[in-house]
Amino acid sequence: MSGKEQVIGVCGAAWGDEGKGKFTDEFAGSSDIVVRAQGGCNAGHTVVFDGKKLKLSNVPSGIANPGTINIIGNGMVLDPQVLIEREMKDLAKVSINCENLLISGDVNLIMPWHRILDRAQEVALGKNKIGTTARGIGPAYMDKIARSGIRLNDLEAPEFFAEKVKKHCEQKEKYVFSVCGATKEQFIEWMKLPDQRGGEWLTADGHFDAEAIIRSYLEWGKILLPRCVDVRVYLREAYKAGKKILLEGAQGLLLDIDHGTFPFVTSSNCCAGGFLTGTGLPPHCIDRIYSVMSAYMTRVGAGPFPTELGTEEEISVESADKRMSYEECKELAKTANDDYTYGKILRHIAGEFGTVTGRPRRTGWFDAVACRLAVTVNGPDIILSKLDILDVMPKLRICTAYRYTGPATRFNGKALNTNDELTEFPTDARILRYCVPARYAEFKGWQEDITNCTCYEDLPELTKAYLKGLEKETGCTIRKVSVGASREKTFFVK
Ligand code: IMP
Repeated sequence: MSGKEQVIGVCGAAWGDEGKGKFTDEFAGSSDIVVRAQGGCNAGHTVVFDGKKLKLSNVPSGIANPGTINIIGNGMVLDPQVLIEREMKDLAKVSINCENLLISGDVNLIMPWHRILDRAQEVALGKNKIGTTARGIGPAYMDKIARSGIRLNDLEAPEFFAEKVKKHCEQKEKYVFSVCGATKEQFIEWMKLPDQRGGEWLTADGHFDAEAIIRSYLEWGKILLPRCVDVRVYLREAYKAGKKILLEGAQGLLLDIDHGTFPFVTSSNCCAGGFLTGTGLPPHCIDRIYSVMSAYMTRVGAGPFPTELGTEEEISVESADKRMSYEECKELAKTANDDYTYGKILRHIAGEFGTVTGRPRRTGWFDAVACRLAVTVNGPDIILSKLDILDVMPKLRICTAYRYTGPATRFNGKALNTNDELTEFPTDARILRYCVPARYAEFKGWQEDITNCTCYEDLPELTKAYLKGLEKETGCTIRKVSVGASREKTFFVK
């Protein structure tokens, strides 16, 4: 965080794998308070502590620093089981006791039926499924919006809480079977999975065991309630006292429930606005929102991706254990002249393979149409990550407009005809799935190692030309760039 800024937010600008973690870690190091405002255990963030890699999903990034207060804001959906039995236990193993963790009393809790609904809804969607993380995120937000969700403060009133649980158990079973069409066998199989405590919340005759669920949550309440605060008041006082606050985003703008590629989105606001509703901090307190964008695009799993390099069949033969070395990629780049090969080079140099599954991630040219959305919704300040990944590329492209190839239709109050050009991002998969790049700005690759650059002036002229091109085509201001994997390989540009 720069000296003058008291409150900043860091959001993802694309589909969530832009490399935000590195910057949130960096900013967290100079923050008094780190707050998460949306999402939950669908997010994943690895921190290295004492040489050990810790996977955090609910806990904010400042947890390893005892002087930093970490807050789970009201806009999140909190799974107490993941927080207490995985994250807090793992942290305890490296002597982090989480005394510096606070939780909003208004946060909605993820309950066992939310994971069941997540799975049942996906099965019901068949080939149109969203590809959710199956952590119950969407169904927990459904209950919040329906005003029936269970909040952390409810655990303070055990009888009131128990009544709500019993009602939900009854209603959710009906929903799983009659609306989603799940079978009893499926329900029992899902309830016996490890994330449902291997059947502990299932009665002998195959129903939600409300009493067992109530007992588990009241037990967890004993650990969570002492950390419970009114976050809006806490932040108001901290702001007045001049504390530095980092608002830590999860996922990315193109996964935002309102502004993303609907319906292939998550269920929360990953945009800058989510920081306001998800914490209660008023807009005038926020000095700057940084959107993190990588120097090329990536996407995990299904969903439209206009600037994608290579087809699904081409990519499917690759895997993390057949990853090419940097030298092999450099060699391949000398003769590369097709989309798939350019995409493959990016994937292998950057190691764009899923951390759990080893599945290759989809890669593509920088998409200025998508980045314009980030500038429109979050503001102009961009942090550009993974710039060094482009070092070996002989040429670079920035997509500046899409061509719509689908049938004539209407969108946003206007006619949309086949072959129409679009310069604004269509926030709907119905339209985006038919969008292909119509125009590219072309750049010559710098083909030299930039990982030792420490300031803007050190960068090759061709790299500066690419950065200027990104700014011109998107209207953004690139504030900071990353030129290597380790934490110190970043510098402010402006
Ligand atoms: P959900 O958030 O589990 O409901 O999943 C909805 C969509 O968001 C799916 O396509 C997920 O793959 C995607 N998603 C959710 N969280 C993340 C994330 O942290 N990074 C990347 N994709 C995510």
